[in-house]
Amino acid sequence: MSVRMISPTIPDDEKGYELDVFCVPKHYEEDLDRVIIPHGLIMDRTERLARDIVRDMGTHHIVALCVLKGGYKFFADLLDYIKALNQNSDKSVPLTVDFIRLKSYCNDQSTNSVKVIGGDELSTLTGKNVLIVEDIVETGKTMETLLSLLSEYKPKMVKVVSLLVKRTPRSSGYRPDYIGFEVPDSFLVGYALDYNEYFRDLSHICILTEGAKEKYKV
Ligand code: IMP
Ligand code: MG
Repeated sequence: MSVRMISPTIPDDEKGYELDVFCVPKHYEEDLDRVIIPHGLIMDRTERLARDIVRDMGTHHIVALCVLKGGYKFFADLLDYIKALNQNSDKSVPLTVDFIRLKSYCNDQSTNSVKVIGGDELSTLTGKNVLIVEDIVETGKTMETLLSLLSEYKPKMVKVVSLLVKRTPRSSGYRPDYIGFEVPDSFLVGYALDYNEYFRDLSHICILTEGAKEKYKV
């Protein structure tokens, strides 16, 4: 049975929330415009994604592959929800983890090259059901590159979950199997999404100010 996947859409004119209504680290107060996805909402959506994933993949051992560094928070929280499902139902599925590090960004621009700069030996994924866990899909190049790399190692099944998908004319048209939220074409930080390594230590997903792009430029 095919199940229609819907994902919440954050509109282009989303006002979000003033920084003052939530807790934001003092060192970032000047750098952020608004909170657009509060941490609690990320968690609520992640809980449901876990349920959908277990429904579809829950008959065989799953290898969850975290795309570092941006995916680490989402990965950890998603796996906690999958674990909770596993330990509270009559049906459960073994879950193992793997990590890969990719880099495609400099400042707020996606570069054309996607580099694998670390992680486990991909040959361990041969014959497995692999769940790739990513923070955000923008052009889709990173994911398309990773998927083609992975296919050389012949996994049994590959599904991709991305917490965010950006609505952008730069998109290749690639769509992950599971999407947390569809977001406007702005540069987003927080919940492990970074700008030149800053803002991973922020719980909510926020829009960066133009001034902050200058301040943290490399
Ligand atoms: P893509 O290859 O253009 O789809 O870009 C995907 C990668 O770029 C993601 O894995 C992120 O690491 C990074 N990225 C894209 N947009 C953003 C953003 O708004 N904030 C932080 N990182 C981003
Ligand atoms: Mg990423």
